[in-house]
Amino acid sequence: MKTWMKRTGVLIVSLGFMACTTTSGYSEKAEGKLTDANIAAIVVGANKIDISAAKLALDQSTNGEIKEFAQRMATDHQAVLDSAVKLVTRLGVDPQNNDLVHALGKQSMEHEAKLKTLSGGEFDKAYIDHEVAYHEAVIGVIKDQLIPGADNGELKDMLISVVPAFEAHLAHSKMVQGKI
Ligand SMILES: [Fe+2]
Repeated sequence: MKTWMKRTGVLIVSLGFMACTTTSGYSEKAEGKLTDANIAAIVVGANKIDISAAKLALDQSTNGEIKEFAQRMATDHQAVLDSAVKLVTRLGVDPQNNDLVHALGKQSMEHEAKLKTLSGGEFDKAYIDHEVAYHEAVIGVIKDQLIPGADNGELKDMLISVVPAFEAHLAHSKMVQGKI
């Protein structure tokens, strides 16, 4: 069982035990082994979520550091998404949603709904706090669940190859967080 918890309660993603939903976070179960089709869906979903949040930040923030970070997320995650879709299409893997994908999607919708009620410094802080938590959670899922779980060697290699970029995003998000 792995649990990633942000101190603010912004994001809680758990794998391996019974689901429990709260107003401050979300946890989900993922019983049994992840298939490559599940892994493909998680990769696609996780990248789409960060692109969506980045577009919101580019629209709503006036802070240069936030906008620069958000543009990097939009560009980098679109590139990862494109290469992942290309790979799984070539491999004939049809992404199949599982509980974690649904949990991430629900949590993302709640986060964006909250962001849309905020402006100025409050928006920037909520956005970047979530980006720090989200990258920590996603890196944990990739390292501890997706890489060990991938059957196909090319899918596994693709997952390994994206970790350094995601860790650089985490470092960038923490740097911006320190200035907000
Ligand atoms: Fe990112």
